[in-house]
Amino acid sequence: MSLRERYLTLCMQPSDMKDHMPRLAEIGRGMAVTEIGFRTGVSATAFLYGGCKRLVSIDIAECDVPPELRDDARFSLKVANSNELKPWKSDVLFIDGDHSYNGVYSDLDRWAPLAKVVALHDTAGRKWLGVREAMHDWFGADWTKIAEYHDSHGLTIWQRA
Ligand SMILES: C[S@@+](CC[C@H](N)C(=O)[O-])C[C@H]1O[C@@H](n2cnc3c(N)ncnc32)[C@H](O)[C@@H]1O
Repeated sequence: MSLRERYLTLCMQPSDMKDHMPRLAEIGRGMAVTEIGFRTGVSATAFLYGGCKRLVSIDIAECDVPPELRDDARFSLKVANSNELKPWKSDVLFIDGDHSYNGVYSDLDRWAPLAKVVALHDTAGRKWLGVREAMHDWFGADWTKIAEYHDSHGLTIWQRA
C-alpha cells in the first residue's frame, strides 16, 4: 500500500481521528512536527501524507510501524515517556499521549514552549475531561486558539499570539 492509499483508507474508516485527517495534513504541511502518542500511526499518516518536513513521533509503548511510514526518510519514532525526554523545537506539536490532566499539563508545560503551533486531540465530549481542563488551565494570553472542532472527539489548535 502506498502512503496515499493508507491516508485515503484512514480517511474513510471509522476512527477517533477520521475527521481530523485533512486538518492535520494541512497544519503540518512544510513543518517540523513532533507528535506525542503514535499508537498505530493514524495521525502520523496524515502529517506525512500532508507533506510535513519531518515528523518525530513519541510513544511510551513499542508500536508496530506500518511500512509506508517506516520507509519514509522524514519519519522517526522514539519509544519513550514524553515526560522523560528532553524536549526539542518543533513548528507543530501534536499532543495525543497521556490523556490524564497531569499528563497533558506536563506535556504542554515541557513541550509547548518550544513549538509555534500546538494541536490537542480529545478536547471535546465528556470522556477526556482532563485533556480539556489541562488545556484550559495551561494556555494564556500569549497563545491564540485558531481552530476548535467537536467531531472525532475534538481537536483544538493554538498558535503563538
Ligand atoms: C490515543 S493513542 C494515540 C493515537 C495516535 N495519535 C493515532 O492517531 O494513531 C495514545 C498513545 O499515547 C501513548 N502514551 C501514553 N502516555 C504516554 C507518554 N507519557 N509518553 C509517550 N506516549 C504515551 C500510548 O502508548 C498510546 O499509544
